[in-house]
Amino acid sequence: MSKGRILVTGASGFLGWNLLRDPWPEWEWTGCSNRYDPELPGLELLRKDLALPGAVAELLDAARPDIVLHTAAVTDLNACEADPGSTRPINTDVPGLLAHHCAERGIRLVFTSSDMVFDGSNPPYDEDSAPCPINVYGHQKAEAEALVLAACPGAAVCRMPLMFGAAGPRAHNFLPEWIGKLTQGERVPLFTDEFRAPVSADVAREGLRIAVEQRMSGVLHLGGRERMSRYDFGQLLCDVWGFDPALLQPVQRADLNFTAPRPADTFFNSHRAWALGYGTASLEEQLRTLKAEGRIS
Ligand SMILES: NC(=O)c1ccc[n+]([C@@H]2O[C@H](COP(=O)([O-])OP(=O)(O)OC[C@H]3O[C@@H](n4cnc5c(N)ncnc54)[C@H](OP(=O)(O)O)[C@@H]3O)[C@@H](O)[C@H]2O)c1
Repeated sequence: MSKGRILVTGASGFLGWNLLRDPWPEWEWTGCSNRYDPELPGLELLRKDLALPGAVAELLDAARPDIVLHTAAVTDLNACEADPGSTRPINTDVPGLLAHHCAERGIRLVFTSSDMVFDGSNPPYDEDSAPCPINVYGHQKAEAEALVLAACPGAAVCRMPLMFGAAGPRAHNFLPEWIGKLTQGERVPLFTDEFRAPVSADVAREGLRIAVEQRMSGVLHLGGRERMSRYDFGQLLCDVWGFDPALLQPVQRADLNFTAPRPADTFFNSHRAWALGYGTASLEEQLRTLKAEGRIS
């Protein structure tokens, strides 16, 4: 028997596609994308620009979900910094509206936020640490979190860390890009001075499953247990995939010119989820699993 209907927004994106390519059994699934088809045969798919007036209510009328897993966003930090006006509607206004409609209709909402709500100067961050973003994207997400919880107090706000894994046909992810370059013998510049709590998309999926199936509400961190720089992560990747670590080029954030300021260290404690068995596999094990699956070449 079905446990209910889950609507995943951002179906063509990295996280949405990874959720829908191997959906949890016993649930019925609908995806919503905007410009692109996620190319998942058999998936009930709706296409909608959620930032257009009336689109959120139309989507809920069409999909009639019990749960919304909202992953749609503009996630490019530099695009948000360069154009706050055009990115705010999807990153801030839509989550707020969605929360309002979900509360009115008795739909459970799981909203994916980001470690970018923190400034990176005072880790580790707890679930009750006050958001203190330093870039536009972080501000948009922090404001969205507040709107979601005000309109729909039963919602779960899941702060996601840096994620890696196979990317869908339209989504981007750093890991396939690095593997492609290293396979070609190209050098990959990687930060030594920026620290994150990365998890694979498979681990992130399990965290979201905990949020849904344990009916969690409030802020939930879904970070990994290991604090790591991209350079150290590259070393681990070379160990697991057998690449030459000399191809990794250590760089510092100050060496590169980004539009958006980047927090130095957003490592966050994810005690609520860890206590429920989230994220026990090491990063090395997560990479070995991905390699064994053969979905990234
Ligand atoms: N990836 C990470 O490492 C990471 C880290 C921290 C937090 N997060 C959070 O995790 C969530 C998912 O991120 P992601 O990496 O999967 O993002 P992504 O790959 O950039 O995908 C974004 C998705 O949002 C959809 N979208 C954008 N604008 C839309 C609009 N106006 N109407 C409807 N859909 C729209 C896109 O649809 P189309 O492509 O079809 O236009 C796409 O499916 C986000 O909330 C993000 O903030 C991600």
